[in-house]
Formats: sequence, structure tokens, C-alpha cells
Amino acid sequence: MRILFVGDVVGRPGRDAVEGLLPALKDRLDIDACVVNGENVANGVGITPRLAERLMAAGADAITLGNHAWRREEIGPYLASSAAVVRPANFQSAAPGRGLAFVEARDGAPVAVLNLLGSLFLDPAHSMWEVVDDLVDEARAVTPVIVVDVHAEATSEKVALASWLDGRVTAVLGTHTHVQTADARVLPGGTAALTDVGMTGPHDSVIGVETKLAIRRMRTGMPVRFETASGGVRLEGAVVTCDPATGRASAIELVRVPWPAT
Ligand code: FE2
Repeated sequence: MRILFVGDVVGRPGRDAVEGLLPALKDRLDIDACVVNGENVANGVGITPRLAERLMAAGADAITLGNHAWRREEIGPYLASSAAVVRPANFQSAAPGRGLAFVEARDGAPVAVLNLLGSLFLDPAHSMWEVVDDLVDEARAVTPVIVVDVHAEATSEKVALASWLDGRVTAVLGTHTHVQTADARVLPGGTAALTDVGMTGPHDSVIGVETKLAIRRMRTGMPVRFETASGGVRLEGAVVTCDPATGRASAIELVRVPWPAT
């Protein structure tokens, strides 16, 4: 089974890249299931029901979120009834939605998708370490194919989580920093790991934001309204190959595709 994970889709440029590239990319890479991180799709922060539907129409089987999950309040009721869009599992338990979803691969096989939020700078209601083992057990009762999106700032938290889950999940893939890392590997127990899958959006920017605006805010400490940049758009992500009978990964490859296609 081949699973494509698409890194954080930022604003309209990211959305355009997903809609323009994903259908053919899934064909070319022979993809069975596709997970997209969509927490920045609504003008750089948050997601709306309409945009979630658009990402799924373009080929996402599941959508993961992160620290900006609640920026658009209309997503709350949608998450409460969605089987395919997850928010971090370690948010407050009274918040709508769930952090674990089961979706179907191309042949109908179940794939579990688990979304967790790291602690550094992101201040989750509970540490991901408090909830992860029970959620992995819950997922493994249904399927051995489990993809974890660890949305976190700190590389150390992501690397540690991958080692902790090695042999129990198919992949531990990092999101949030928007910078693709060069450490794709399959750990000894058969878990594919990557500290950050990267960003689907404008790379001539400061992690998606118009460069001059990001620098102005940093230099002055004054409030500056951020706008999504537009240049150097790429779809970034990773493909994990695994045995659907055991969930063990055999390979992980980086994906970087320019948009518009050259
Ligand atoms: Fe984030």
C-alpha cells in the first residue's frame, strides 16, 4: 500500500497546487490513500467546511489539522460530524471532533489517521504523551495501517514520538514548521519517520507569509497583518510504502513538485 501525505496547504496558492497537481500525482505515484494537512488552507490560518470539501474533492481521503484548527468557528460543527477530518487528539476533550479517523484506501482497506499536537509553543490541553498509547491501541484494534501526523514545533518531540511508536504504527510524519527535513527513514521496528513533510504553498516567503510583512513584524514587534505570499509554489509531502497486512513500512520518499508544473 502506498500512502501520500501532503504537507501543510497554505492559502489559495497551496489550494491551487493541490487541485492542480494531486489527481495526476496520485496516479503517477500509484497512491492508495492520501492524507493532507489543511490547517493553513483558509488564507493561511484555519480551515472552513467548504475548503475541507474542496481538498477532499481534489483527492484527500483524510485531512489533519493543528494549532490553528479553531480559527474559523464554522469548522466546529463540521468536525463534530466529519469522519475524515481530524483535529489534534490532545485538545480539550469537550471540543468538537476527534483526533483519530478511519478512512478507506483505494481497495477499501481501513487506514487509521491520528493527529497529535506537540507541546513547545503550542500549549495543548494535554500532553500528546498522555493520550497517544490508548489511541494507538484503539487504531490497532481496527487496522495495522496507522498514519500519525505530529503537528509540532520541536524536532526533538517529533523524533522522540517516532521512536516511541516504532513497530506500532506505519508512519510518524511531522507537520507545522513548513520546512521539509532530510531525515526520511524507516526505523528498525518498521515505522516510517520524517520530522517535517514540508509545505504546499508559496516558498518565496517566510513559511508561507509575505516576506516583508513577516520581517516587519519581527523587526518592530508591532502588530502586522499577515498575507499569504504567492511565489515559488510547490506541493511537498512524502510517500510511505507499507504492507497492508502488518502495517510495516518498507520505504519513505520525499515529494516536491513545483506548481504550475514546469
Ligand atoms: Fe501549525
